[in-house]
Amino acid sequence: MDAFEELRKEHSEIMRLVSLMKHTVAHLRANQELPEQFVQDMLDFITGFADKCHHGKEEKVLFPLLKSRQLSQGDLDLIDQLLEDHAQGRSFVAAMKESFKLYQNGDSGAVSELADNMESYANLLPGHIKKEAVFFKHIQSLLTPKELALHDEKCEKIEKELGEHEHFLELMDRMRATAMDLFPVN
Ligand SMILES: [Fe+2]
Ligand SMILES: [Fe+2]
Repeated sequence: MDAFEELRKEHSEIMRLVSLMKHTVAHLRANQELPEQFVQDMLDFITGFADKCHHGKEEKVLFPLLKSRQLSQGDLDLIDQLLEDHAQGRSFVAAMKESFKLYQNGDSGAVSELADNMESYANLLPGHIKKEAVFFKHIQSLLTPKELALHDEKCEKIEKELGEHEHFLELMDRMRATAMDLFPVN
């Protein structure tokens, strides 16, 4: 496995999610009616694919590997920024889950909070991914073949342990198909 290539592919999938979320936010604000299964699927995808798997590889493998070697202060600061983005993303997701639960318990007003947090998440991720795209290219040229091989091996282990990669790729396909019915997706 080329772990950097895999992380880039995952960024594309996460950008697909961002696109679905933007359409969902517009839908929620226009309708105040919530497509429950679709929202549940998005929350599952964010938790299992974006957070546990993708951010897990970055936080448990790549960033510790980088911090164990000599890096410029600029690079170290950027890693801290990326970690802050992850933490901020997690707080938006926690808030989304909370509003969704309230809605399911009969609080229809929770829809607007759900839309706000979804919008914040969808606004955060593209910038985060852009920063990582530039940073990963730079890092790949710094790491030794041995470090790259170790990174590949450890990322593959995480993916195997979680064991749901294919499931989430299929879920994304299904969500994109569902979205065609709910609202037009580009
Ligand atoms: Fe990240
Ligand atoms: Fe990433």
